[in-house]
Formats: sequence, structure tokens, C-alpha cells
Amino acid sequence: MSNKKTTVGMINSQVLAYTAGRDVELDRSLVAVDCIGTAAHVTMLAAMPVEPPVISTAERDRVIEALNTIRAQAEKGSFKIRLSDQDVHLAVERVLTSELGDLGKKVHTGRSRNDQVAVDLRLFAKEQLWHTLEEVAALAEVLVRFGKKHEGVAMVGRTHMQPGMPSSVGLWATAHAESLLDDAAGLFHLLEMNDQSPLGSAASYGVPLPIDRGLTAKLLGFSRATHNVLYANNSRGKLEGLVLGGMSQIMLTLSRLAQDLMIFTMPEFDYFKLPPAFCTGSSIMPQKQNPDVCELVRAKASRVKAAELAVYDLVKGAPSGYNRDLQEAKEPFMEGLAVTRASLQVMIPMLAETTVNKAALLAGFSPEVFATDRALEWVAEGVPFRDAYDRVKEELDDLASVDPSVAIGKKQHLGASFGLDWGGYRDQIKGIRQQTRKQKRAYERAIESLTGVAYQVQ
Ligand code: ARG
Repeated sequence: MSNKKTTVGMINSQVLAYTAGRDVELDRSLVAVDCIGTAAHVTMLAAMPVEPPVISTAERDRVIEALNTIRAQAEKGSFKIRLSDQDVHLAVERVLTSELGDLGKKVHTGRSRNDQVAVDLRLFAKEQLWHTLEEVAALAEVLVRFGKKHEGVAMVGRTHMQPGMPSSVGLWATAHAESLLDDAAGLFHLLEMNDQSPLGSAASYGVPLPIDRGLTAKLLGFSRATHNVLYANNSRGKLEGLVLGGMSQIMLTLSRLAQDLMIFTMPEFDYFKLPPAFCTGSSIMPQKQNPDVCELVRAKASRVKAAELAVYDLVKGAPSGYNRDLQEAKEPFMEGLAVTRASLQVMIPMLAETTVNKAALLAGFSPEVFATDRALEWVAEGVPFRDAYDRVKEELDDLASVDPSVAIGKKQHLGASFGLDWGGYRDQIKGIRQQTRKQKRAYERAIESLTGVAYQVQ
């Protein structure tokens, strides 16, 4: 096997391919954030109080211009990461050096690929979390609209999957919406934890130079720098695991929603109908309209949870400081985010076009569904609940049938079918969108003033 010349020495080709792993492809998603991180680093180097300066302000401007060109090339798909680069960091350094000569060789002063990749992943995470929040808000909105439209449509409420008490389509839909609102609150908490810059922690132990970590944090739109430089590196993997935990909560919500849809669209129920274009057919049975999207959402929930567990397992035994094991967290991290977002994106239009079969929902009611309501009528007449319960149990076969819409109309307390806070749901969804937009704009402004060119979170 031949050896290959790299920026960091001659490496056996087989070892190079094995150790670079999937970085050469995966790091394509990190080119923009890597350039932005380097722009902040050189800006800080140019401001560092040393004589002679490591980089002059004119040199800083040339580096930033070259970085902006790399970003533009990456957007067009013409920036290449070679196997001999190993990853995006050395690919960018190679291009800077070929464009700028000795100046390109200066950019790595006082940093390591370890803090570089850590900052890249945090920038990548925040952008992905904002997109996810927008998608979560959109699905919650679709569910609230669906619920409001069918607010008065009665639906059998089930426990143990058996008919239990009168409920409504509005209650069913907003239960899933409310779960998404909790998931969104979790994402904001993750954004807060992610909002710390590890840049300048270098290999894991800092550098003997008067670098200003607070300045790079500020230039990148972070509210602060991580403090301890060793923890800055140890937090890699922990952070990806936390973000994947947020994703797996969303997938849990989606999976239960998908499961409900699969049950309630079975011909035996026929409560809801999925839009035909969101169902797939069979190659042998001409009549089939299968809910494959729902099945795959359920399956992908397992994959996202597995990604979270994979990352946890990778770091749980990792010693302090950078270890190459951390590189393996990148793939489950990126995949978990992508799968969650794709699942949200397909559920939004599917739910928006799902229809309700009022007659089938009404046909689902039998007199027993009103048994508890009947017992509570006795209670209203002064009978102790346990006696009322026994009385109804004895007369189950003779229960009078009740109009389900009248029954649900009586459930007016907080959070029941006719006590739902529709305005509150709308305000929460609006709040998620406003907060996301505000954070995104502040970040875009920071990156624009750092790089001198327009920036949009992508
Ligand atoms: N691609 C590497 C990763 O993702 C970058 C850091 C490499 N650092 C090192 N000391 N070999 O972890």
C-alpha cells in the first residue's frame, strides 16, 4: 500500500481512508460554518496584542475574502474536500495556502482542528435547531387548525384501546399539537446550552498566546464562550447527544400521531382518510392504499433514538481531551437531525389534507360509552359515586343512547373538549416563530458584520 502526503505527514493510504471515514462527504455540510469560524479566528488574531502582529488587519481582510469565495464555491458545489485533506478543516487551509501563500499558513495559529470542529458543530446545530423549530411550529399549527375545524365532532375516547368516554376530534388533534409545543420548549433549552463558543480551547488545553475567546464568541453570535478549555472538548458528543435527545422527543410525538392515524384510517374504523397521494399502492393488490409514511415515521423514531444512544455510547467511556472516537458521532448526529426534519416535513402536508368522516366517528359510539357520564348524573342527584357506579354497572344493557355532541358539549372544564384554549395554542405557536426569527436574525447580523457579505441561515 502506498503512502499519501497530507498536511499532517505521510500517511499509509489505507489508514488515511479508514481514519478519514465519512468525513470527506459529511463535512460538505460544514464548509460554510467552518469558513465563518475561521473568519472569527483571524479577526481575533489580527486584534491580538502582540508585536509584531501575527496577522495585520489588511491580511485579515484578504483571508476573509478568500473564505467568502470558498463559501460561494461550496454553495455551487464546486468546493472539493479530498481524501488527502482528511476533513473540511485541512481542505480550507489547503485552499487558503494555495491562494494566499504564507498568509494561508498563518490561520491555524493558536487553534486546533479539535476546537474548530467543535465550533462548526455548534454553529451547524443552532441552524438545524432553528429550522426544526419552524417545522415543529408548522405541524402544531396544522394540528390546531384540524382540531378547531372539527372541534364539535365527537369521537370515542379510548383507554387500553377500548371505548371509554365521549371525546372529540379537537381534543385528539390538539393533544398531539401540545406534545409538539413541549418538544419546542425542549429545543429552546438546547439552543441555550449550545450557545457557547468552544473556539480557542485548541487541542483541549488552550495556548500560550493572549487570545481573546470572548471576542471570537461575540463575533460568531454566541452569547458566551464555554469556560474550561478541557470541558470545551469534552462537551463534544455530549452536546450532539442532547440535541438528538430533543430530536427523539419530536419523533416520539410523531410516531404516536402516526400510530393513531394508522388505526383510525383502517377501513374498520374509517374515522380519518389520508390524502391518496400520501399513500402507496401494492404491486399485486390493486385496491391497496397503504399508510407507508406513518409506518416509516414509526420506524424512523427508532433510528433517531438509536442515533442518540450511539452517540452516548461513543462518549461514555471516552477519556478526557480529544479522542478520534468523537469523529464517529458526526454521522448519527447529522442523520438524526436530517431524519427528524424530513419526518416533520412530510407530516405537515399529509395532516393538512387529512379528512374526517363524521358519520363513521358517530357510528363508533355505543351506549356504554356514556356509562360514566350516566353515573355522574346520579352523583348530581346526590348519590355517592361508588353507589352510582354500581347502579350503572347493573343496568349496562339498558343504558339509553345519548347524542354524543351533547355529551361532549358538557365537558367545559380546563383542557376538556369544550375547554380548550385555542387562543393559547395560537399564541404559543406565534411565540415559537417570533423567538426563532429573533435568534436567527441576530445570528445572521453577526455573521454579516464579521464577513462583510449577506448571510442567510440555510
Ligand atoms: N475530523 C476530525 C473530527 O471530526 C477533526 C479533528 C481531528 N483532530 C485530530 N486530532 N485528529 O474529529
